[in-house]
Amino acid sequence: MLFFNKKTTIAASGILQGAADHHSHILPGVDDGVETMDEALRILAAYEELGIKELWLTPHIMEDIPNTPDRLKARFAELKKAYTGNIVLHLAAEYMIDNNLRKLLDTEIDKDSPSFGRGTSNTCDAEGDKTTEPQEEISLINNCPSCVRGASNAVAEGDSPLLPIGNNGKHLLVETSYYNPPIKFHETLKQIKSMGYYPLLAHPERYMYMDEAEYRRLREEGVKFQLNLASLAGGYGKIVKKKALWLLEKGFYDVAGSDLHCEDTVEYIISCRIGEKEVVKVGKLLGKHL
Ligand SMILES: [Fe+2]
Repeated sequence: MLFFNKKTTIAASGILQGAADHHSHILPGVDDGVETMDEALRILAAYEELGIKELWLTPHIMEDIPNTPDRLKARFAELKKAYTGNIVLHLAAEYMIDNNLRKLLDTEIDKDSPSFGRGTSNTCDAEGDKTTEPQEEISLINNCPSCVRGASNAVAEGDSPLLPIGNNGKHLLVETSYYNPPIKFHETLKQIKSMGYYPLLAHPERYMYMDEAEYRRLREEGVKFQLNLASLAGGYGKIVKKKALWLLEKGFYDVAGSDLHCEDTVEYIISCRIGEKEVVKVGKLLGKHL
């Protein structure tokens, strides 16, 4: 007997009611996303009408777009002042894994512990237990006599050079090139984790160089995955769609996001048609609050 996976649009499915969007480029004028405050406010009004309750603004930080937390925080304050609606807004960032991020990670380590050496080669090796939580891994580090970094410094606050995502500040949203893995990819992820953050990999389905074995390896290493909504409907092509459906089926995703860059794509994303089989799973991802 043939089984038909009846399709519905994201808007009609009801999964946006109470949803949290964990990925957007709506903070205006800071990256390749929304350009003006007016456009940002119109998108927020549309989001509110759709029932979205929580929104993470995740502007790019990379070598080509070297945003600083101070600049982004200042722009975020302007947006919050101008916005009078009810969506809960948060500021984080989407970090390209590149030399810029590696420098920031080293800066954060140095800030908290002057005697803690730079780079992954100087971090204590917590290998052998790849499923450990970041804090558990830090406990392993603390048990290492040559390591002086305390657990209380695991997630830096205040003048941190990083903008983590999630209400507990324990996740770092990262991305890579779509075509090639970055140099020291796994070493950098390990460094992030050893500092007390879960690496949250943006749109893993979109990386052409990743295969099933790589996805499994990343999950085993404690990396969390974030789905781009449009991927499920073929918004980035058939291969990406196939990978997204496989990752969803395997339960590898932790949260979802729109990755919205401009007002014009709001309609496109909510009109994406996804199978009813996927609706329940995506609804759960959108209902999660990091
Ligand atoms: Fe993005």
